[in-house]
Amino acid sequence: MKIAVAEVNFNEIQAEVLVVGTFKHPENTSNWSEFVSFYGSSLDKWLKTGDVSTDRKKLTKLPTLQDGKLQRVIFVGLGDRKTLTQDDLRSIFGTVGKELIASKTTNVSIWLDSFTNEEIEIDDASYLAAEGISMGLYKVPNYKTSSNSTDVYLDNVELLTNSDNQEILAYFEVGQVYGESVNEARTLVNMPSNVLTATKMAEYAKELAETYDFEYEELGKAQMEELGMGAILAVNQGSTEEPRLIVMKYRANDDWNDVVGLVGKGVTYDTGGYSIKPKDGLVGMKGDMGGAAAVLGAMRIIGETQPNKNVMAVIASTDNMISGNAFKPDDVITSLSGKTIEILNTDAEGRLVLADAVTYAKQQGANYIVDVATLTGGVIIALGKDKTGALTNNETFFETFLEASVETGEFVWRLPLTESDKKRIRKSDVADLNNSPGRDGHMIFGGGFVGEFVDNTPWIHLDIAGTSDASSAHDLGPKGGTGAMVRSLATLIERMSLEDTEK
Ligand code: BES
Ligand code: ZN
Ligand code: ZN
Repeated sequence: MKIAVAEVNFNEIQAEVLVVGTFKHPENTSNWSEFVSFYGSSLDKWLKTGDVSTDRKKLTKLPTLQDGKLQRVIFVGLGDRKTLTQDDLRSIFGTVGKELIASKTTNVSIWLDSFTNEEIEIDDASYLAAEGISMGLYKVPNYKTSSNSTDVYLDNVELLTNSDNQEILAYFEVGQVYGESVNEARTLVNMPSNVLTATKMAEYAKELAETYDFEYEELGKAQMEELGMGAILAVNQGSTEEPRLIVMKYRANDDWNDVVGLVGKGVTYDTGGYSIKPKDGLVGMKGDMGGAAAVLGAMRIIGETQPNKNVMAVIASTDNMISGNAFKPDDVITSLSGKTIEILNTDAEGRLVLADAVTYAKQQGANYIVDVATLTGGVIIALGKDKTGALTNNETFFETFLEASVETGEFVWRLPLTESDKKRIRKSDVADLNNSPGRDGHMIFGGGFVGEFVDNTPWIHLDIAGTSDASSAHDLGPKGGTGAMVRSLATLIERMSLEDTEK
């Protein structure tokens, strides 16, 4: 996609489509009268009759009457100028992206000045346009033999502004990196598990590492056995597919200190094992690697934007299958940390693979840990499909993350983790921990179990079982993988990097 910035001059537009932000009183937008005289004075009438809507999120598509290249104008209703927020604008640009892809538009001109208010400066508008449109353009790759040949992509984007801000293009490019990295994560989540095996996920990660010059390490079954990663090995035991522990290191400086570890659950398929899921619960379990996808997406952003912060990604990947070899309830296993675990439910496998991944991250020098996982159905019961559940052991660290998530518009809600919760996780007659203390407080026990392996390292647990995939289309994308937490993780790193520079 080629991007250019140009002054507001409607007669010079080379694109086929012009996107115009239309507040309730559009006459207060600078250059509006020029636009009306360019487009035609009927516009004033249509705004009054509502044929061109200023209602927030309403798109009105109208043709142009001139003979130039410009064929159509998309009027984007923005509502009251005072109340439009950045989140609103991101979503609105998502719907614009969807419209552009649906109408097979290849060249678009966006009148950026028409989208600004007191809250949203021109560089914000540029960023949000890029992020929202990129996400809105996303299509779920399919395996239909008849498709793909007619796919159309946006080739040229022109940003119209009279602002002398030189950074507009740079903001757009960063927004695009964020949006496209979300889309990469979405594709990983949408891939079926017979295609995206642990080995394939590692291949993807290796390529990413090569592109951005990350240090890369990949542990297979033999190395896991050597190191004593009994937890991930137990989950993998019933599978014919090899497990993978994927490690990537982004070195911002020569010292490997102050390292943020991003740890992802990469269960490529979760049958539940012997504690098997009911048939309706199985459908969709190809997406049980959403945490891994979030980490990979965030690493792509980090590779592109090069923040001043050391980051390590650790992804634990395997499927959870049934066979004569599979692990069983009542088994007792020994994790990499040395802690023993009584298995009460083989469907509580995510916390097991994360236990070894978190321990490995610590051994490799992580000073902060964020784990991301489609961990429990409990989080969906508690918070619904649009909120990510969180736990933490560190207020300051969580505060920074929460601010990042507010900036990205990804809703995160923290649940408590108390001493009595920890007691229940540690309750076992035969081992140090049990992997399933029961259904009440379900999400807390899942994340809390991972916390047992973190000790005092500042830690945030993110349960994205609800948010990692959408059951229907939404403003920023289609049904399926959402790429949840990709942007918030990357923004967290960006914020920590800025905090360091300010010190
Ligand atoms: N992968 C599931 C969680 C999940 C459920 C993700 C629904 C997405 C949608 C996880 O491994 C699991 O099975 N959790 C169990 C835990 C229970 C056995 C303690 C659950 O949530 O029921
Ligand atoms: Zn499970
Ligand atoms: Zn699972």
